[in-house]
Amino acid sequence: LQQREEAGRTKNHRLHWRCAATAEGKQIGGSNQMLVYVPPHPLIKHWISVLRNDFTPPPMFKSAMAELGRFLIYEASRDWLLTVSGEVNTPCGTAQVEFIDPREPVKVVPILRAGLVLVEHAGSVLPANQTYHVGFVRDETTLQPSMYLNKLPERFAEGARVLVADPMLATGGTIVAAIEELTKRGVDHNLLRVVAAVAAPPALKKLSEKFPGLRVYVGMIDEELNEKGYIVPGLGDAGDRSFGT
Ligand code: URA
Repeated sequence: LQQREEAGRTKNHRLHWRCAATAEGKQIGGSNQMLVYVPPHPLIKHWISVLRNDFTPPPMFKSAMAELGRFLIYEASRDWLLTVSGEVNTPCGTAQVEFIDPREPVKVVPILRAGLVLVEHAGSVLPANQTYHVGFVRDETTLQPSMYLNKLPERFAEGARVLVADPMLATGGTIVAAIEELTKRGVDHNLLRVVAAVAAPPALKKLSEKFPGLRVYVGMIDEELNEKGYIVPGLGDAGDRSFGT
């Protein structure tokens, strides 16, 4: 919480974006404010540290990103997954049980390239899931995103739970464009969750203005962007570092 507040302040100490924060999974603030959650777990801090290190080679970077994704998705799914109750026979008797509802798979939307790495272990945390890929590329000069791959369905069913993965929320252009594609197809942004490794204030500000009911689960919030739109200190280009390009 403290970290979020510090990162949300400009040099003249005004808040950059309006959103609720949460401690121990409880929301603080209005229910229709965007919620940004930085899980206070040592493993999240550990994998962020490995990712930040310039000496981390691509295969280790990729597996650290996948591990970070596993725990962020776990946090994002905590109060979100639908279950069905039933009864099973154990070797010693009968037990009342709850299963993840197989009729309600979470729609996982990785934003290529690096989002693919963040969702590598999604299957271990979301037993029922479907994956829809989207690809965006950022113009190096204008920093504007353009979509080069769209595997989204024409329409999502009402009540669909959608998890969008984009490791770096920098200017916010790509994540906003991706969420707009989803809302056009019937997704309620209040049922949408974003997972990211690192976020910066411009992206959080944009998201909170456009999608007030959204929830963002992020490993770390950094202060600023450089002139190329990279997060500082950040971790560099998440796609290049994952794939060794
Ligand atoms: N994309 C990245 O991979 N890194 C950044 O810092 C910003 C956008």
